[in-house]
Amino acid sequence: MANVVIVGAQWGDEGKGKIVDRLTEFADVVVRFQGGNNAGHTLVVDGEKTVLHLIPAGILHPGKSCVIGNGVVLDPGVIVMEIDRLKQKGFLADDSQLVVSLDAHVIMPWHKAIDVAREQALGAGKLGTTGRGIGPTYEDKVARRGIRVRDLLDGDRLLRKVRERLPEALEEIRRLGAPADLQAEPIAEEYARHGNRLKRHAAESSLALHRAIRAGKSLLFEGAQGTMLDVDHGTYPFVTSSNTVAGNAATGSGVGPTEIDQVVGVSKAYCTRVGGGPYPTELRDETGERLRRVGNEFGATTGRPRRTGWFDAVALRYAARVNGLDGLAITKLDVLTGFPQPKVAVAYRFDGRTVEELPGDLEDLERCEPVYESLPGWSEPLAGARSWEDLPVAARSYVKRLEALSGVKVMAVSVGADRGETILLENPFAR
Ligand code: IMP
Repeated sequence: MANVVIVGAQWGDEGKGKIVDRLTEFADVVVRFQGGNNAGHTLVVDGEKTVLHLIPAGILHPGKSCVIGNGVVLDPGVIVMEIDRLKQKGFLADDSQLVVSLDAHVIMPWHKAIDVAREQALGAGKLGTTGRGIGPTYEDKVARRGIRVRDLLDGDRLLRKVRERLPEALEEIRRLGAPADLQAEPIAEEYARHGNRLKRHAAESSLALHRAIRAGKSLLFEGAQGTMLDVDHGTYPFVTSSNTVAGNAATGSGVGPTEIDQVVGVSKAYCTRVGGGPYPTELRDETGERLRRVGNEFGATTGRPRRTGWFDAVALRYAARVNGLDGLAITKLDVLTGFPQPKVAVAYRFDGRTVEELPGDLEDLERCEPVYESLPGWSEPLAGARSWEDLPVAARSYVKRLEALSGVKVMAVSVGADRGETILLENPFAR
């Protein structure tokens, strides 16, 4: 029995959902602790594709429960839609399989309107948010004027809270030059209806998790986004509005940090980023285009083309530090097949100096040039590989080099989108 946290070690989209899906076999409960439907997990099980934005990927495993923790911001319309779709496909037959924290903050229509209007007003300087209202919802949480899942369950209280908050939100939307035609009553009615649907899932999730731990169950914490998008530790202000690092698994779920046994970081075998902000190893050339095409690097949430580039070991070492990584999962190794000499950034050149640690200042990071090491490529497709020995020697050396550069043990390697295409070298639940 162990409790394991999985986090993104890069800029999000590392394939965490796939690793979580693979490891769920060893867990009883899968927990989301931050972010919202800005995340997107594409899962392929027996050739069938399912995209989930809020509900943990673990829901595709019968008999496992999934918890949306207090640290998540929840769009109730989206979760209700995901529930319906899952049920249509024959999943989530038992409602008790999904628990939603009563304390999770709710994304309201004005949050989405403010998110989109702000980005429009910023023009070229925009952050490139997903437009899902994530930032404005976290702002209201911290400003102590948020609406929580528990408020959706009481129609009168909900209407009162909507009436309290809406005028100021509308003022902001108007100031940003966007149409401000939201009305309190229809919003409260719609959200109370969602509340009615969610009632059977809503619970004191910290208590439910505590009881699960006491009963000897194993928890798997599923991070969203990635370390470099963390509001404290990422490339601020080009970040999301939550803490994406492993430490937040405790705060965002109400489970004490002493209950966490292992932290695993997920990283692609190369690097991608969506939205604005510095990204030292970005390739704006034919190679970058090829990575995008072969790796199908288009957002699961917004469909935006992702920025692509070589692997960044400086960023990975940083992720190892701020998350306390015990292990690494390397995904999409198959995408590098056919690249004659894949490169890895081992350091940066900055103001005539070579630096091995990620500069804290964004403007410094923007001026960094990667120092590359070229590694031998391989031409064999990896899709059929099911064990370490099945991988070509050059692919194995590539993975071993990432391990050496980060100082973190590689526990899993993924070579394709299907559930069967993850080679588990070491099970973090059995450590
Ligand atoms: P927000 O989370 O929508 O506020 O967006 C803030 C930044 O985080 C933008 O650069 C987004 O592209 C990025 N972002 C948010 N969620 C994800 C994700 O799941 N994967 C990758 N990038 C994300």
